Amino acid sequence: MLNSSRSTILFYLVICVTTLVGATDHIVGANRGWNPGINYTLWANNQTFYVGDLISFRYMKTQYNVYEVNQTGYDNCTIEGAMGNWSSGKDFILLSKAKRYYFICGNGGCFSGMKVSVLVHALPPPPHAAISNHDSSSKSSDKARFSPPVAILGVLFASVASIWFLSD
Ligand SMILES: *[C@@H]1O[C@H](CO)[C@@H](O)[C@H](O)[C@H]1NC(C)=O
Ligand SMILES: *[C@@H]1O[C@H](CO)[C@@H](O)[C@H](O)[C@H]1NC(C)=O
Ligand SMILES: *[C@@H]1O[C@H](CO)[C@@H](O)[C@H](O)[C@H]1NC(C)=O
Ligand SMILES: *[C@@H]1O[C@H](CO)[C@@H](O)[C@H](O)[C@H]1NC(C)=O
Ligand SMILES: *[C@@H]1O[C@H](CO)[C@@H](O)[C@H](O)[C@H]1NC(C)=O
Repeated sequence: MLNSSRSTILFYLVICVTTLVGATDHIVGANRGWNPGINYTLWANNQTFYVGDLISFRYMKTQYNVYEVNQTGYDNCTIEGAMGNWSSGKDFILLSKAKRYYFICGNGGCFSGMKVSVLVHALPPPPHAAISNHDSSSKSSDKARFSPPVAILGVLFASVASIWFLSD
């Protein structure tokens, strides 16, 4: 099976899984994706990140990539000591810890603004009063969130494994 079919299947599986567990997939740059000339600080300031959410990067894989770096790497556009790197063009990254994450493009794009920093919050307490709350809004931060990150990881691993298995 072609790689593009695999990533299409993975894409829909991720959507299903995040929907089922109540986590959010934050698509960097929304419909503008991961590209030069976009202020990703404005994008990040416009949403709330929780442990167990995904951040996803969509871009031309022949042109760009994604590195997780520390604050120095973010400030100076350097990848020394990077904690991870991705280059599929449709990368889903689990935000598994309550901390500030830094991502940059590792082949020059960082200098044209391809850098994003997100503060990930611990999960909010479960919404006990959800049924009696008639005024509950539709903000994503009010959604029920049931599943610990470990479960998400498990399901994702199982999904990827089955794609590999099915496509051989
Ligand atoms: C992006 O927007 C933020 C918030 O308004 C601002 O502080 C920052 O200077 C902007 N960055 C660039 C590169 O324009
Ligand atoms: C912030 O979010 C609102 C609602 O989702 C959207 O309409 C707006 O374009 C977003 N702004 C930025 C800078 O992403
Ligand atoms: C980051 O860049 C700034 C300004 O160019 C420089 O002063 C600083 O020493 C650099 N930091 C590191 C850790 O390289
Ligand atoms: C980031 O990592 C580099 C390379 O390992 C290191 O020199 C630097 O001190 C680190 N910066 C921070 C803020 O931890
Ligand atoms: C990118 O990640 C791979 C493992 O996934 C690692 O072996 C490689 O050294 C990383 N590259 C850089 C430049 O950090």
